[in-house]
Amino acid sequence: MKNTPNIKFTSAFEEDIYKGLTRNPKQLSSKYFYDKKGDKLFQDIMNMPEYYLTNCEYNIIKSNTEEIADAFEGPNGFDLIELGAGDGKKTKLLLKYLADKKVVFDYLPVDISQNALDDLEQSIKNELPTVRTKPQQGTYFKTLERLADYNSRKKVILVLGSNIGNLLHKDAIDFLKQIQVAMSPEDMLFMGFDQKKDPQIILDAYNDKAGITAAFNKNLLERINTELQGNFDLDSFSHWETYDPETGTAKSFLMSIKEQTVTIKDLELTVSFEAWESIHTEISQKYDDAVVEWLANQADLKVSTSFSDKENYYKNYIFRKK
Ligand code: AVJ
Repeated sequence: MKNTPNIKFTSAFEEDIYKGLTRNPKQLSSKYFYDKKGDKLFQDIMNMPEYYLTNCEYNIIKSNTEEIADAFEGPNGFDLIELGAGDGKKTKLLLKYLADKKVVFDYLPVDISQNALDDLEQSIKNELPTVRTKPQQGTYFKTLERLADYNSRKKVILVLGSNIGNLLHKDAIDFLKQIQVAMSPEDMLFMGFDQKKDPQIILDAYNDKAGITAAFNKNLLERINTELQGNFDLDSFSHWETYDPETGTAKSFLMSIKEQTVTIKDLELTVSFEAWESIHTEISQKYDDAVVEWLANQADLKVSTSFSDKENYYKNYIFRKK
């Protein structure tokens, strides 16, 4: 009965790591990438030449700031709720436009990383002192439960960076549904979706030559080492990326390059790896209009406008309730 833990879990992190490493095939969740070091590595990823997503979305928002931000406005101002705010680099283009125009709104960035939120709050205080920021730490799903409480005026929900791509379609629909249920008829959702394209471009974005993505992926093992007293030898694992052009799914794995055992003291767990056994860590889904429209429809949302870069590498969509 290797799936029955001897210990009582004290956090979702402990439970998820235990379950992921005792199932077959092994799996760990990408949501645990983002501790202080993971946040920094993701910043580095966004700055790499191969990771086109950030630049594409930045350019889309930069070229369409007026049209996008003007669509946000409501009769009594609005609440701008951003799920997975990160460093807010792209959002600041919109915040600056709205602040210059003296539009009435509150900015509510939500992120799983308190560290990212602290940095964001400080940088907005410095760069855009008139913007009222109310940071909220938490997972998307937990925050969405509180979302419906913001109903005294228009809500604009922002999900940038193709963050939805970490979810399987079934979970993406649940996520969109939860947003839809919290929305009033006048509310809107503005969301970024990375698009299907030349598979080589996608593989390069998730398998960079400098090894930053590999370090990002391996940081999960380092977190287990430091937070749960594990003894993963990082050099005995390698990063592997696949992209299936038929489904549009990019997948990340950590490969055990040899037969080995790893002990995680806090979980009272010893994990055996065969040589070349995989740990699946992340999916980064790529989309096209038909799939986005299908997802929206399943969640009782409709696409009202979309914006893309000149190569159609990336698109941002405005959704409303159906
Ligand atoms: C932040 C989830 C959008 O999947 O592209 C970057 C994370 N993983 N490189 C993505 C990530 C590897 C990123 N998201």
